[in-house]
Amino acid sequence: MFEHLDLLAPDPILGLMAAFRADSDPRKVDLGVGVYRDEGGETPVMQAVRAAERDVLEHQTTKTYVAPAGNAAFNEAVGRLVLGEGHAALSGGRVRVVQAPGGCGALRLGAELIRAAAPNAVVYVSSPTWANHVPLLSGSGLVLERYPYFDSATGGVAFDAMMGALDVLPPRSVVLLHASCHNPTGADLGEDQWRQVLSLIRRRGLLPFVDIAYQGLGGGLAEDAFAPRLLCAELPEALVAVSCSKNFGLYRERVGALLSLSQTGAQADAALSHLVRIARGLYSMPPDHGAAIVARILGSGLREQWERELAAMRGRILALRAEAARALAAVCPHRDFGHIVRQRGMFSYLGIDKDAVRRLREQHHVYMTDDSRINIAGLRHENIAYFAAAVAKAIG
Ligand SMILES: Cc1ncc(COP(=O)(O)O)c(C=O)c1O
Repeated sequence: MFEHLDLLAPDPILGLMAAFRADSDPRKVDLGVGVYRDEGGETPVMQAVRAAERDVLEHQTTKTYVAPAGNAAFNEAVGRLVLGEGHAALSGGRVRVVQAPGGCGALRLGAELIRAAAPNAVVYVSSPTWANHVPLLSGSGLVLERYPYFDSATGGVAFDAMMGALDVLPPRSVVLLHASCHNPTGADLGEDQWRQVLSLIRRRGLLPFVDIAYQGLGGGLAEDAFAPRLLCAELPEALVAVSCSKNFGLYRERVGALLSLSQTGAQADAALSHLVRIARGLYSMPPDHGAAIVARILGSGLREQWERELAAMRGRILALRAEAARALAAVCPHRDFGHIVRQRGMFSYLGIDKDAVRRLREQHHVYMTDDSRINIAGLRHENIAYFAAAVAKAIG
């Protein structure tokens, strides 16, 4: 049976990781992989996570199955973390939360729920978007289309083009929106623009599917969740895919959740029943360990410590952004890299062509994806000058 399978090309990011590992030059800089790194280049376990993990191990009395919807304490805590304490949709009983294996699992659950409700629905994703959105969403059988998003001339959002494209979508189209820290561009909508998106969604009867994977790493916990909070307060229906990989540093534990907002409590229960059925058919139930850690942190005194650590990570990214923009301006006076300061989250597009990206890799040991997306957290204060000089040489 398997003799007919072609050998697929590996994911480009995995190839990039392998090339970086094989590079023995001590000056090498990895700006490819999308994980947070500290000044030592490590992706550390957060102290709050360590403490919660000890607590979980000490008090866990069984390893028996959890429910298909996952850890109930986690689901409740994540609903409040994303939507904010006392959010009207939560107190109105219209939200259901299902734990998922990472933000990826949540995105797939959401896609499968849409497919169950409206098999012909089309999902519109930003151009560009995170590469994995495509297999995650279309893998459920939904058709994917794109809406314009990034303005390479300003490094910001091409807002008029985006609104123009969304304003002609048929009712019940699904719009995938990055809540904050857009991956791969770092270009986010402002609050006023989100309000305009809200009225458009309402006017045209669209379904917003919000992906929030970087809450707390852009402007702050509340700031980064402005969009899901607004949309869930004002609209009858929405889906929100949550990842705890970055803001809790729990990548490999696979922690995420899908929030579904329905018009009534009864409709919310029906959506939940489908989500449980879908989860059962995909992976039966999510892993517990990471979710138990998040539930401990959010439900205890460890929350303060976690927020402090998260704020330090956010501060480091913002400082690196400012420093990188300054260093690039100094060595590339004819090019504007000011967008790096204006953008938020872990990523920015450097805005250089593929050949320059290749020269950076081959001649200067600086690694980034071909579209020139850089992981800001992969920089260090000590190598920013080297990075900027390498970019100047590579773009000539
Ligand atoms: C935009 C976006 N959404 C979702 C995810 C999901 O991540 P995970 O499945 O690791 O939680 C990521 C991770 O890189 C992401 O960048």
